Amino acid sequence: MPLLDGQVRRMFEEVAFSYDLQNSVLSLRRDSAWRRALADRLPPGRPLRVLDVAAGTAEVALEICRRRPLAQVLGLDYSPSMLAVGRGKLLSQGLAGRLSLCLGDARRLPVRDTCMDAVSIAFGIRNVDDRATALAEFRRVLRPGGRALVLEFSLPEASVPRRLYRLYFEHVLPPLGNFLSRSDYAYDYLVESVLAFPKPEAFAQELTRAGFGPVSRTPLSLGIVQLYEANVPNRPAQGAAVRSSSSEGVSCW
Ligand SMILES: C[S@@+](CC[C@H](N)C(=O)[O-])C[C@H]1O[C@@H](n2cnc3c(N)ncnc32)[C@H](O)[C@@H]1O
Repeated sequence: MPLLDGQVRRMFEEVAFSYDLQNSVLSLRRDSAWRRALADRLPPGRPLRVLDVAAGTAEVALEICRRRPLAQVLGLDYSPSMLAVGRGKLLSQGLAGRLSLCLGDARRLPVRDTCMDAVSIAFGIRNVDDRATALAEFRRVLRPGGRALVLEFSLPEASVPRRLYRLYFEHVLPPLGNFLSRSDYAYDYLVESVLAFPKPEAFAQELTRAGFGPVSRTPLSLGIVQLYEANVPNRPAQGAAVRSSSSEGVSCW
């Protein structure tokens, strides 16, 4: 049975302190290359304001700061323990002036309309209960011409890699991941949630329905991960309604 939102949050609270190690071991250290690929797709030029949603332990936010020395980054997550790990890293790397972390929900971003140049979310959207609301929020906070970047797991398209990967993913990864995270269910949940997530074309359509322009996607590591890139049209399409902020007064940036 799928986990309820509160159970997902509790799970991230429980695994936070070994989360980075789990990622690195179980992805054979590919995870940092995936996050680098995302950071490389940020819009070019000028200082950027970037919101990293479901920031977790701030790995993406830190990568963005490393790649883009003029960027101001806000990382947001609803798990205080994941953010606490991230905060330790940003302080030890002397990035407190450029990177802030705040507790918040992807479905109700505490950020004013059109104030971000880019919104990123890595391995987070699959976990968000009510994806349509979250995508509408990404659209709302992005300026015209702004960019959403989404990293999410998927399955390889070619049949042999797909079969081999499914063997690893469904039979090796859950016991190993549960052992590393000292959880009974965290990696069973990972597999279930990846298999339940829409196929890449269907997720791209969800982005379009949320008001983004044409969506491009790049399969990474044979399609184990997809990187989606969706831009906000420079002028809103006629008749397109962009939800306005209901969170004025609680802006944390
Ligand atoms: C798999 S982790 C990804 C963390 C990080 N982006 C990374 O690349 O390692 C998923 C994160 O999504 C967060 N999350 C899930 N649902 C959320 C929501 N509705 N609002 C904010 N954060 C959420 C969890 O707390 C968790 O930190």
